[in-house]
Amino acid sequence: MAIKSGITVHSIPGKPFGAEVRGANLEDISPTDFDTIRRALYTHSLIVIKGQNDLSPAGQYSLTRLFDPSVTTYGHGKTLDAKKSVLHPDLKTIPHQPQVQVIGNGPVDSYESLTNIRLNHPHHKTFHKTHVPESEDRDFTRFYRWHIDAALYALNPPRATTLLAVRVPKSPPQTLRYDDGSGDELSVMRGSTVFSSSETTYDLLSEEDKAFARSTKVQYHAHPYIWMSGAKSRPDGLGMESEGLELPDSELPPIEQDKILVLPMCWKNPVTGRLALQIHPAAVEKLILADGSMVEDLKEVRAIVHRLQRPGIAPERLHAVEWEDGDLAVFNNHAVLHSVTGSFDKDEVRIFRQCNLAGSEPPVGPDGVVV
Ligand SMILES: [Fe+2]
Repeated sequence: MAIKSGITVHSIPGKPFGAEVRGANLEDISPTDFDTIRRALYTHSLIVIKGQNDLSPAGQYSLTRLFDPSVTTYGHGKTLDAKKSVLHPDLKTIPHQPQVQVIGNGPVDSYESLTNIRLNHPHHKTFHKTHVPESEDRDFTRFYRWHIDAALYALNPPRATTLLAVRVPKSPPQTLRYDDGSGDELSVMRGSTVFSSSETTYDLLSEEDKAFARSTKVQYHAHPYIWMSGAKSRPDGLGMESEGLELPDSELPPIEQDKILVLPMCWKNPVTGRLALQIHPAAVEKLILADGSMVEDLKEVRAIVHRLQRPGIAPERLHAVEWEDGDLAVFNNHAVLHSVTGSFDKDEVRIFRQCNLAGSEPPVGPDGVVV
């Protein structure tokens, strides 16, 4: 007789996707409970598990690894160390659990054997071409950068990311502006992490675009986070402006051709079989079409990707997580895009822990068989 899990799964009022999971002991998960959690994750793309204040970094790593048990390497490997990488300022590695990163804002005397650290919440002014004016910065924000958690060079994209809210400052909400001419806005709690379902984005495509997406492959630039460091983002955070400001190959670390990633444009959900239009819009370099021809003009590549992805980030389609201390979010990194939002004063203290692991296999494409 099958053992019944004590875990229950609940929809979250007002959110178009995502679910709350209750009754989980994450420090010591039974196979039956993990099966329930995994099924919930692949059905809802994003799950929030409340009250996880006591989860250790080792427990967080173990949970993350259950989704891909043969792997042990952090999703970005050691590439965070590269000074020019756009990721470098944002993450601090926990010395005794190097797959877990501390992110947040403000001065922290001591946390998990890190002492006297200063965390910096990423602000769009460091990444976007245009900015919310300084005088409006306390009340308005933008999507910082829509992305998949993935190195996109040499390493496969992680399957799942876990994100634990250790300390959330109490601070007034903000209005998020798209500033792309649409007039779109979204009210968000300050520092909300915002998710878009790439499965919904695929479902919204015309039949012609779905056929295009199923048959097209995406090539990512080598060392993409260093490559993009000279360039600036569009105001909606969904990909880059094309001004020729990306770093030339001569300014990147050595490039090994066999480590360049070419991935399907659609990734298949291993539980439901749904397809996700899953592209990192800032890191994409080329599109490879069904007949083997390539779209190589960067401006044209980005225009195609933006046209396909923009409907999926419309305000009513997003899940903006309203963080409370002890919330653990787990997301299907093969089926959502996400973005940091918000701006904090420099001494507002916010502490989060993030963990993901480079995948054992590339994502499964639309014609692949999932087991
Ligand atoms: Fe992320």
